[in-house]
Amino acid sequence: MTYLDNTLKERLTEFYTRSRKLTILTGAGLSTDSGIPTFRDKDGFWTVGSVNYMPEEMGTLKMFTQKPLEVWRWFLYRFNICLKALPNTGHFAIKELEDIFSDRFRLITQNVDGLHFKAHSSRERTFLIHGTLERSRCGSECSSELYPYPQIPLEKDQQLTAAQIELLKCPKCGNYLRPHVLWFDERYNEKYFKLDSSMRVAKETGLLLIVGTSGATTLPQRIVESVLSRQGIIIDINPNENYFSELALKKKNGYWLKGKSSEVLPEILQFFKSL
Ligand code: APR
Repeated sequence: MTYLDNTLKERLTEFYTRSRKLTILTGAGLSTDSGIPTFRDKDGFWTVGSVNYMPEEMGTLKMFTQKPLEVWRWFLYRFNICLKALPNTGHFAIKELEDIFSDRFRLITQNVDGLHFKAHSSRERTFLIHGTLERSRCGSECSSELYPYPQIPLEKDQQLTAAQIELLKCPKCGNYLRPHVLWFDERYNEKYFKLDSSMRVAKETGLLLIVGTSGATTLPQRIVESVLSRQGIIIDINPNENYFSELALKKKNGYWLKGKSSEVLPEILQFFKSL
């Protein structure tokens, strides 16, 4: 199966000869081929007692304030999945595109699973706009210091021991730590989530690859709109139609490659390697 037609190949060749940036915006779909369920999958729920909660309910400051240990159990379970997960061909293709484009390359990711760094994408060119499961911080914000993520790989129905609960406490004030990620009821900022610097990248982008995201969050939407407003090309890579594929199909600079990132990205990589 080939995804790139001649028209798109001509557009990509023209982009390659210019000087604007190649930016790749990734979401949970990129990691599905590494065995990490996306957020809006049918089995993405978490059970507390006899109630099933969706990620949009569990991953909130509100739920953390009410049930900090339940939120931690869910995050430590996801941490355990991510710990065992390996990068797939999509992650490695992104790393090789960074090698080709060097400082014309930027990576903006919503993923907190750490797989881009396991595939050796550089930290200086990667913007973690939803945080990371590598770090935690004080849940009461007694300071803005970042601590290592508690190394407690939990299974889905496993309870926390008293000793493990102690590892979830802020070393400064003794209140609970929290995962250093953006929750559904929280707002982007530059300090933790590179809001301004990722918008600056969008302004310099000539080609944006949107990979495996449903477009449910606002900063990715603003990034895509900014690229389009400056006549950049957007390519949505997703086997299912979504907010960005529908947007792309309405724009002369928009393309939707309907396929899995682990298949489409290697083809894009091979094309640029052939130039
Ligand atoms: N290749 C490419 N895309 C895929 C693949 C694949 N193999 N498999 C699934 N997808 C697509 C799905 O069709 C869906 O559109 O990935 C997308 C995943 O969407 P979400 O689960 O909403 O994940 P994401 O867009 O990253 O969510 C954004 O919202 O859930 C919060 O903070 C969380 O970072 C997350 C953010």
